[in-house]
Amino acid sequence: MTQTTAIAHPNFALVKYWGKKDIDQNMPAMSSISITVDSMHSKTKIYKNLSSKQHRLFINGEEEQDISKIIPSLQYLSKISKSNDFLVIKSENNFPTSSGLASSASGIASLVTAYEAHYDIELKMSDRVKACMLGSGSAPRSLLGGFVLMDQNRSYRCSQILGKSDWPLDVLICIASTESKKISSREGMEISRKTSTIYNHWLDINQEHINEALEAIREKNILKLERVTEKNCELMHEVMKTSSPSIVYKTDVTRSCVTEVENLRVLGHKLFYTIDAGPQVKIICDPSSSNAIKEKIIEKTDVIEIIHAGIGGSPRVVNEN
Ligand code: PMV
Repeated sequence: MTQTTAIAHPNFALVKYWGKKDIDQNMPAMSSISITVDSMHSKTKIYKNLSSKQHRLFINGEEEQDISKIIPSLQYLSKISKSNDFLVIKSENNFPTSSGLASSASGIASLVTAYEAHYDIELKMSDRVKACMLGSGSAPRSLLGGFVLMDQNRSYRCSQILGKSDWPLDVLICIASTESKKISSREGMEISRKTSTIYNHWLDINQEHINEALEAIREKNILKLERVTEKNCELMHEVMKTSSPSIVYKTDVTRSCVTEVENLRVLGHKLFYTIDAGPQVKIICDPSSSNAIKEKIIEKTDVIEIIHAGIGGSPRVVNEN
């Protein structure tokens, strides 16, 4: 039986996307900038399903009953490969799934990478972006390592701003809870788009934040990147909060982590945080401060675990039988 396996890493947005322009095509309503991280990954194996005429998806060994999220990506890819195969897809995450840790981004990016190699179809980058985006709006950013821009003004072209070794920051992922999120980002974004009183402001300010972050990354200026990342993160959570019903992903543990980030900064450490659609806090820092930060967060907060990562690379096919 021929099978192909690929690995992709999650990415965390510094300038975030929250809200869609086109629901059917799953297109973000704004540009975004992210970092890909190294020690977390999704590993996805695919092979032809010889026993039934349907795709089957297993995540961490359990079969998913609702596979609607990956069907548009598979349909897009099968038009290019001209294959009508049904697939068995087995995806493993080495980190908690669906709790605001971007498992869908790395999952979809590893699936698209495995598919391309399995059918030997050498996709154009724009096709990879499209195939990923149909599954998850943030997944195209996981197609590249380092610091990545997804530009809505250039057909969502994804480009690398800096490579993983150009600015080797650390990323400390503070796990505040391992529970699955109650409102999916897909649902949450639609609620915000339709009801948040500051949604238009969020759209209007996007390019300004993108420009600021681009400048900070190109200059490798951690203080500038801190300012724009935290401002952008807090604004996104304000958009969520001002939605009706109000959406709140932060918990007390999230808030206590943020307080410690601020305290550590006063002590002279170079670090900043970002929070996505879940309670986890991602701390980006100068590697010389990582140990001190981890010790303080463990001592002062109820964080369950801290995953220590660096900036990661692009997806890759791995030989496995
Ligand atoms: O691509 P999705 O549906 O997982 O949405 C990602 C949304 C955020 O993580 C909150 C922000 C982002 O740009 O990654």
